[in-house]
Amino acid sequence: MSNDLFNLENETAVVIGGTGILGGAIAEGLARSGAKVAVVGRSEERGNERVRAIEEAGGTAIFHFGDVSSVESLTAARDAINDQLGKVSVLVNSAGGNRADATLPPGSDFCKLPLDAWRGVFDLNLVGGALLPCQIFGETMLEAGRGSIINIASMSGIIPLSRVVAYSAAKAAVINLTLFLSREWATRGIRVNAISPGFFPGEQNRALLFNEDGTYTERGNQILSHTPMERFGEPQELEGVVVWLASEKAASFVTGQNIVVDGGFGSITI
Ligand SMILES: NC(=O)c1ccc[n+]([C@@H]2O[C@H](COP(=O)([O-])OP(=O)(O)OC[C@H]3O[C@@H](n4cnc5c(N)ncnc54)[C@H](OP(=O)(O)O)[C@@H]3O)[C@@H](O)[C@H]2O)c1
Repeated sequence: MSNDLFNLENETAVVIGGTGILGGAIAEGLARSGAKVAVVGRSEERGNERVRAIEEAGGTAIFHFGDVSSVESLTAARDAINDQLGKVSVLVNSAGGNRADATLPPGSDFCKLPLDAWRGVFDLNLVGGALLPCQIFGETMLEAGRGSIINIASMSGIIPLSRVVAYSAAKAAVINLTLFLSREWATRGIRVNAISPGFFPGEQNRALLFNEDGTYTERGNQILSHTPMERFGEPQELEGVVVWLASEKAASFVTGQNIVVDGGFGSITI
């Protein structure tokens, strides 16, 4: 007897931001379950490194350049991936992040937050990080009548963390768009879900969490003291949720959900 609930051998998966820490681990996880994977981003070097890791583990992957700020770039990526790997049936939107100039320093004036920084964070996380890829890759899925879209949102889209106001609002909008689209495409064979990670150390937040000597910063300690598991997440800990949501068998009746992976951070009330 065997269980193929999580077998993704029939799927072509695109991971936008697969050049990054979380997206890269997600791409490897999807490939481990049998999906053919396209790693998409701007960094050819990091993209090809991830492809090599997948191939060395026996999986199938390609890198394709894609800039989420450009409709033309995403459309070209979609068309090439459809040709090279087969029609895209799983889309993971992992491109995103915060900007220093959109973060309020302690004690600073919210009224002075620069508008272009706010707009930049919304452009990256909401427009490029979710809206455009859903539209562009969604066309392929609508034609086929099947697909799974997984938007990487954030804990802070649910509970707005202090200081990162633009980022939190943009991720809240990603969750909202996820719910909208799940309803819009529910009868078209496309499931649309989100994952909201808590704290996973990566390039973007390393300085926030760790001092140069590897000890925790004040903010890092604060976060850990509010995390029941008393640790940060590891990128590989997103794999199970992504594979489950990607699987047409395992998650056949699951759409419009926002799955939180945060070691319990969001469950604490003081
Ligand atoms: N790490 C965490 O604790 C955490 C927590 C909650 C949510 N998240 C979210 O998880 C996602 C991945 O974050 P991460 O920690 O893995 O950060 P990361 O390593 O910096 O990955 C972000 C990726 O976004 C891509 N990207 C940025 N601008 C892009 C553009 N214009 N076009 C295409 N790709 C672009 C980058 O790819 P290129 O450089 O190749 O363009 C990069 O690989 C983000 O949406 C982030 O907001 C992270």
